[in-house]
Amino acid sequence: MAKIGFEIIGTGHYAPGEPVSNDDLARVITTSDEWIYQRSGIRQRHYAPDGVGVSDLACEAAKRAIESAGIPASEIDYIVFATMTPDYIFPGSGALLGAKLGIPGVPALDVRQQCAAMLFGLQMIDGLVQTGAARTILFVGAEAHAGFMPWEDWGALDPKNGRSATPEARARADRHRNLAVLFGDGSGALVLRATDRDAGLRANKICSDGRFAELLYVPGGGFRARPYWKPTSFEDDAHIPRMDGRELFKFAVTKLPATARELCAAQGITVDDIDVFLAHQANGRINEHIRKDLGVPVEKLPSNIDRFGNTSGATVPILIDEEMRAGRLKTGQLAMVLALGTGVHWGCALWRL
Ligand code: ACO
Repeated sequence: MAKIGFEIIGTGHYAPGEPVSNDDLARVITTSDEWIYQRSGIRQRHYAPDGVGVSDLACEAAKRAIESAGIPASEIDYIVFATMTPDYIFPGSGALLGAKLGIPGVPALDVRQQCAAMLFGLQMIDGLVQTGAARTILFVGAEAHAGFMPWEDWGALDPKNGRSATPEARARADRHRNLAVLFGDGSGALVLRATDRDAGLRANKICSDGRFAELLYVPGGGFRARPYWKPTSFEDDAHIPRMDGRELFKFAVTKLPATARELCAAQGITVDDIDVFLAHQANGRINEHIRKDLGVPVEKLPSNIDRFGNTSGATVPILIDEEMRAGRLKTGQLAMVLALGTGVHWGCALWRL
């Protein structure tokens, strides 16, 4: 029996509020535009306002994607929602999104593979269309990292307010500066539909290795502790992730090119046969390493990290939306998705658009 494919019929993204520049960040944390840009390629990021959760961010991107698909929301018969910063510890945000879109009752699956969510999402979407469980799927990645930023005086970020962080607040924020400068908030959404056309997931190679979970993790709020949240947790910064940036960097620049080569070899193709590389946007330098290692020309590996920072599960759908709207990503192209997320989860997927 012929494999049922899936194609992108609509895309959208959303970035909340005004962008916060590296210079703005230097008002609350000891850093500089030069340091951040040289190490990561980031110039600015957005933050979700207090009280705005990922289901709200996702709703904006999803509405744009549904509008661009030209279908009523009622045609969506499955939601796959990727986030590592859900509105609640539980339940997940997928069902909240369905309710906000006015399609309660539509099954919603929450994917928890962090920055590698698109890879696992593609496998879910492929499975759903192959089994006939769904025909029109909304995939959304959304993140609200603002809640774990290591400062409390958000007004100090804005030069118009004429104040910067106190020395005590700055000292606390500086303990987390390697992490804080990288992440930004936003959402990206794709509407995918089953098709007879030769489109969809061609092959993938994905891996998970929990031995490295603590390369990036949130120490507090887990249910190993009784109670899971303590009065001292906030003082201990237990809500702020701890990250071994150097090890993650090494992991990404060694595992991703190797996995890409393995996948190509298994499929009997070469890297040159791939039209576009849709890489997770964790750090511009990581992607430059991967690009050079694989011998890929600059124009085949698009980047938008300068404007968004690392939006974790949202980066690949945001990138797809931007590239599609710019006319650079086209129906029929062979794309490779590459991503590594804490867990650690990583891998590559070959996707016929
Ligand atoms: N501004 C200025 N100086 C800083 C900052 C900052 N924001 N952060 C750290 N530094 C200083 C450090 O204190 C250190 O100073 P020292 O030499 O005097 O001790 C120096 O800069 C080097 O610090 P490192 O942390 O070793 O810097 P590195 O070169 O490794 O770059 C970075 C840090 C940018 C975080 C890099 O390691 C990285 O991007 N790693 C990958 C991270 C990643 O991919 N994370 C996401 C994973 S995906 C997911 O699932 C969400």
